[in-house]
Amino acid sequence: MSGQPVIIWDKAEDCTVSDRWGNRWIDWSSGVLITNAGHGRKEIRDSLREVIDHGLLASYVFVHERRARLTQMLRDISPDPENYRVFLLSTGSEATENCIKLSKTYALKKYGSRKKYFVSFNHAFHGRTMGAQLAGGSEEQKEWMVDRDRTFVQVPFPDGYKNEDTSFDLFLQTLNEKGVQPPDIAGVMTETYQGGGPDFLPVDYAQKLEALCREHDIVMCYDEVQAGFGRTGKMFGYQHYGVRPDLIA
Ligand SMILES: Cc1ncc(COP(=O)(O)O)c(C=O)c1O
Repeated sequence: MSGQPVIIWDKAEDCTVSDRWGNRWIDWSSGVLITNAGHGRKEIRDSLREVIDHGLLASYVFVHERRARLTQMLRDISPDPENYRVFLLSTGSEATENCIKLSKTYALKKYGSRKKYFVSFNHAFHGRTMGAQLAGGSEEQKEWMVDRDRTFVQVPFPDGYKNEDTSFDLFLQTLNEKGVQPPDIAGVMTETYQGGGPDFLPVDYAQKLEALCREHDIVMCYDEVQAGFGRTGKMFGYQHYGVRPDLIA
């Protein structure tokens, strides 16, 4: 990693971290949004210890009860449990990669190879693996690929300042300029809010996007790697928009 501050973390408790020489800091970074329950939380430590002591530390194709319980719990907290299925992965990048793969596979099987585009937004971040970067909105992070898969297309994000035009018309107009028609789109993915801002979609924009996706059978993916699990005040951030994504990373 580049850009690392020259301090060495040693211990952490709740929102405080310390080094070995007695310096202490408040961790405003919250582990870049992954330690919202606090560092070293007792319930998490106890559960980890229980799993380690139980002995079953690996299973790939075999079912085990804890995994079934976890997937059931994840379904139960979703707004519409009967319509959600859960697929457990290890990282956010894997989750967004799989959103791409599932969207494109669905489109290919149902409509053939013409429905091939994957649309996402400028300035978006979906991870550091190849597919996640192709869907990401940073040109700089894609330079290493040299020849790119041109089925990945970005449009301006309606943040209101980097792009002042927050109308949904700009989404359609940009795609039209790039020669992409809605029936040829396999999937659309957006961060629920762009973490780089933070920037939210206007509610009516999110709803128009959902309507377009439903009309053209486009898989709508919400990347909740930053927004999920209560971090915006609702269990899932997309609930603020009144939409129901097909895939949630
Ligand atoms: C919105 C978003 N999507 C995807 C990712 C990638 O997650 P991971 O680093 O676990 O691969 C991140 C990581 O910061 C993220 O913020």
